[in-house]
Amino acid sequence: MSDDIRRAVCPGSYDPITVGHVDVLVRAAALYDEVVVAVLHNPAKSGTFSIEERIGFIERALPEAAARRVRVEAFAGRLLVDVCRDVGADVIVKGLRGGTDFAYELPMALMNRHLTGVETVFLPGAPEFEHVSSSLVKEVARFGGDVKGLVPDEVLAALTAKATTA
Ligand code: PNS
Repeated sequence: MSDDIRRAVCPGSYDPITVGHVDVLVRAAALYDEVVVAVLHNPAKSGTFSIEERIGFIERALPEAAARRVRVEAFAGRLLVDVCRDVGADVIVKGLRGGTDFAYELPMALMNRHLTGVETVFLPGAPEFEHVSSSLVKEVARFGGDVKGLVPDEVLAALTAKATTA
């Protein structure tokens, strides 16, 4: 793509989106003209929520001002660098909750830059969401714990419904 738009990709599983993700997406949307939220999934694994559910949760969770700059797309069985090339983005944006995230993310950032030169920009997440991850939220919800305020309300309702029907 040969336009002058500064476009970033925010990749992840988003299974499901959390308030930590929303925080980072809003910040990314303030920094770039366009943000492509890339829901990356392995076609061999079903995940907790379907791809359609994940996309809908993300689209409806974003405040209006950010949503105008964001589009959500799903990609299956693809390298992130190929997704970036296809959508015309030269930057990947990732949120960091702390040192453990950095240790996990750094080799991927270096590998992605090695592959195509794409850069990764790390945004420090809001400290109040440092403990929030999709996997922890799902585990707590599965056993009846309260995750209100850690995910969008619609996701909370969906997690509660899953927990009560399991
Ligand atoms: O939300 P997650 O599960 O932490 O996201 C991880 C994700 C999907 C961003 C990462 O696994 C990824 O980039 N997968 C795409 C495949 C790929 O490019 N792998 C090589 C990374 S160096």
